[in-house]
Amino acid sequence: MKRLISLTRLILLISLFHHITISLFAEDWIVPPDKAEKTAPFVFSKESVEKGAELFVKNCQSCHGDPTRGNFAKLDPTPEDPASEKFKELTDGEMFYKITNGRGTMPQFKMILSEDDRWDLISYIRSFHSGYIQPEPELTSMTGAGERASMTILFDSLSKMVTISVYTVKNDMKSPVKGAEVLFFVKRYFGNLSLGDAVRTNEEGIISYPFPDGIAGDSTGQLTLIAQLNESSGYGNAKKAILVPLGVPTEWISLTAPRAMWNINFKAPVWLILSYSLTVLGVLLALVYIMLQIRKIFYLGSAVDDAKSDKP
Ligand code: HEC
Repeated sequence: MKRLISLTRLILLISLFHHITISLFAEDWIVPPDKAEKTAPFVFSKESVEKGAELFVKNCQSCHGDPTRGNFAKLDPTPEDPASEKFKELTDGEMFYKITNGRGTMPQFKMILSEDDRWDLISYIRSFHSGYIQPEPELTSMTGAGERASMTILFDSLSKMVTISVYTVKNDMKSPVKGAEVLFFVKRYFGNLSLGDAVRTNEEGIISYPFPDGIAGDSTGQLTLIAQLNESSGYGNAKKAILVPLGVPTEWISLTAPRAMWNINFKAPVWLILSYSLTVLGVLLALVYIMLQIRKIFYLGSAVDDAKSDKP
């Protein structure tokens, strides 16, 4: 009897401990300070709220319910109503971090939603927080972020520089975009080779890009350079390609050439083919021999039976 009591006590203690650790954990979702300071790359607008509303119904409503109604799913820890004080207290950066990385039941949306989508969602959630004032967007441009930008790409053979110009067009007026991020790639058979971190446009909306040394080109050193706006800058994803003669001349092996990885002819040396064939032949002969022996035993057996039954 005493034992039973101490056993129930132990179970009680363990479950209490478990509960305490769970609730401690649930309260401590700490976002790294530099991530918490992050701000949206565009000014929240009616459009971003509308886009966010659509995304919310598809991706979040099942758990978080309809904002202001408190009809979120009964999970532990609770998802909470996005219109709640708890959500309001988060910085934009914290919200972005939590949506991006998830935790436990809260899914990770890093691979599911683009960065712009995640900011649209935050813009929608903020529309329920009275008195919310959006902090300065991360990239201030001369034209105002959120517009689709266009891009030109030029190669100057004298200075060996690639020049990118990023601008928006409004009423036939071109305005340069400052601080737009551009990613560089070299075209390859399968996918593109990234040339490293994004580069930002200067005050005039221009990037002077010194093409890196030692990148393989075709047999004459030509290669296709691709410049693409980083979508998370909030200016769309305009893309331009240009042929530049700055690669290292390289003879690429044709995919159908005998040396290519998936060509099986010409690869095996004669001695290997011969010894392989002989081994296979040997094994087959051994099998035939064994089968013949079994047949012999069978006939011998029936001959003995015949002899027995002949005797009276
Ligand atoms: C499968 C259920 C589920 C879905 C779907 C879901 N969430 Fe969550 N969410 C949760 C849970 C549970 C928590 C609490 C997690 C914790 O505290 O460990 C949470 C927490 C959060 C938080 C942090 C709240 C805080 O107080 O720190 C934010 C922000 C959030 N969710 C936003 C979203 C958004 C935006 C979407 C849609 C893109 C979404 N969630 C989709 C379950 C979900």
